[in-house]
Amino acid sequence: MNGNIKLKTLITEKQIKQRVAALSREISAHYSGETLMIVGLLNGSFIFLADLVRQLNQYKLHLIVDFMRIYSYGSNTVTSGKPTLCQDVTIDVKGRHILIVDDILDTGHTIEYVIQYLSAFKPLSLRSCVCLDKTGRRQANVQADYVGFTIPDVFVVGYGLDYDGRFREIPDISILS
Ligand code: IMP
Ligand code: MG
Repeated sequence: MNGNIKLKTLITEKQIKQRVAALSREISAHYSGETLMIVGLLNGSFIFLADLVRQLNQYKLHLIVDFMRIYSYGSNTVTSGKPTLCQDVTIDVKGRHILIVDDILDTGHTIEYVIQYLSAFKPLSLRSCVCLDKTGRRQANVQADYVGFTIPDVFVVGYGLDYDGRFREIPDISILS
């Protein structure tokens, strides 16, 4: 059924857990005592976001969680650079501290689009957090404020990341070949 698809572990579940804990310490220190609205980008962010917010729960900040869905036309492993809004946030971002959360920053077109889109609604602050950063593939002039791991130009699955909708449930992050 898997044909010739091979998975090779790049980042283990244990490494992810430790890094998410460290990231949440960093984030909580920045927003201490504040209300922070997390805007997850569906589908890829759902597992990372779920782990992140549960780690943040131990710190002194109030969370609001909402989601957006962005679609990028393109083939399975290559994004085209034309993001389209499919599902908007349902909570007003005006005057709030916003943290965009996504699975991976690749060309940067998705995060760039979301930053531009949400900026128009006048948030108090706007930052981004990604589990993975493929710095070598950047096309848009964006960087994330919080990065879990910087990875080389390889296609990865697991921990929410998919290939054609598959492999999101795998607890570690693997290179697909
Ligand atoms: P960007 O707009 O090119 O930064 O693309 C971001 C989106 O492309 C991510 O949210 C993922 O859905 C997808 N993507 C980019 N690289 C990978 C990968 O290695 N595995 C799975 N999805 C990826
Ligand atoms: Mg995605």
